[in-house]
Amino acid sequence: MGLGHLLHHNPAPGTAGLTIDHGGSYDVFGAVFFGGRRDRVYRRLAVLSGAGPGDLVLDIGCGTGYLTRRLAAVVGSGTVVGLDPSAAVLDHARRITKEPNCTYTVGVAESLSAQDNSFDVVANCLMLHHLPEDLRATALAEMRRVLRPGGRLLIGEFRPPANPVGRHLVGALTGPAMEHNPIDLLAPMVVDAGFEQVDSADLHPWIRVVTAVKPGAVE
Ligand SMILES: C[S@@+](CC[C@H](N)C(=O)[O-])C[C@H]1O[C@@H](n2cnc3c(N)ncnc32)[C@H](O)[C@@H]1O
Repeated sequence: MGLGHLLHHNPAPGTAGLTIDHGGSYDVFGAVFFGGRRDRVYRRLAVLSGAGPGDLVLDIGCGTGYLTRRLAAVVGSGTVVGLDPSAAVLDHARRITKEPNCTYTVGVAESLSAQDNSFDVVANCLMLHHLPEDLRATALAEMRRVLRPGGRLLIGEFRPPANPVGRHLVGALTGPAMEHNPIDLLAPMVVDAGFEQVDSADLHPWIRVVTAVKPGAVE
């Protein structure tokens, strides 16, 4: 049994996604797993999201709010909403968040309650592989729906090690979703969801970043 089984919980009501309830253990695992580089990688993700002062940002699958808080630092007077199906992990996020411009709400990526065109930026990190594969396109369509025309998408996803031994080790620690994450399908899925200006980059040690823009901005 991998460590993933200790961190993950049965799906919360309303999703077939694999939720995380134990926020404290998750952050300890994250610190070790990123080998001391988690803060640097997540601050870079916040910058790459293109979020700027005054923006309204949605962080889907926010977990303990690690990315949410770094996005809050770049939006200044703006607001970041962290969304997750797990009420327990959101309680943890609220306890450790000092930034006044972060709020947290229960919800699911595949059926967002937000109105169309309501966010400047939609971000998520290490969330999509928690969804069953058949829900990922639905979640991307929802991200597009709630972004305003010209709004920006940022996805950070787990990039499995190229070498089979490393990949197998990841699988033993976390489970098959990370070991077999089909990372090269991510950018094409974002294109299929109707985004434009789709770019990919890798951040070390583990993250593939895909950024994109919702078409239709008024010039
Ligand atoms: C690996 S954690 C990532 C947390 C945070 N984004 C980070 O990078 O530290 C994945 C998160 O996705 C959440 N999740 C699972 N199913 C989901 C769904 N259907 N919609 C949104 N989030 C979901 C889990 O509860 C968990 O908090």
